[in-house]
Amino acid sequence: MKGGAIDMSKLDPILTKHEGQKEALISVLQEVQGEFGYVPEEAIERIADALKLFPSQVYGVVTFYSQFYLTPRGRNTIRVCRGTDCHVQRTTSLLAAIEQTLGIKEGETTDDLRFSLEPATCLGKCSLAPVIMVNRDYYGKIVPRELETILKRYE
Ligand code: FES
Repeated sequence: MKGGAIDMSKLDPILTKHEGQKEALISVLQEVQGEFGYVPEEAIERIADALKLFPSQVYGVVTFYSQFYLTPRGRNTIRVCRGTDCHVQRTTSLLAAIEQTLGIKEGETTDDLRFSLEPATCLGKCSLAPVIMVNRDYYGKIVPRELETILKRYE
């Protein structure tokens, strides 16, 4: 995923507010992600400096929590259920079809930022297996040929 220039001056107010507050790391990361949509790699050293931490400590927290992203996210998130019931009902072929259609793998985002494809364990609708979710919408008992129609609904 290639990115354009990032306006790092947006970091200043966040970092000034939490200068020297090691314990505020999670809130700072949440605010940074709220501002940029993800935590840019370029921000990590500046966050570490401001909070008097090592960059490796900041990086460790970003990679530990699944709520934080190091790359820009798509406007729409697709989740393909990998739970047991869905797996038995062939979500693997759905996942392969989505990956082929969008040209990305699980965990990646399309270059036009239209879609991110996220791994998911049980989505809680096992009776509808196989299940995928796009943003907050569930689609159950679907087959690969229905995917195109579904994805067209999301710009
Ligand atoms: S296993 Fe897929 S929704 Fe539960």
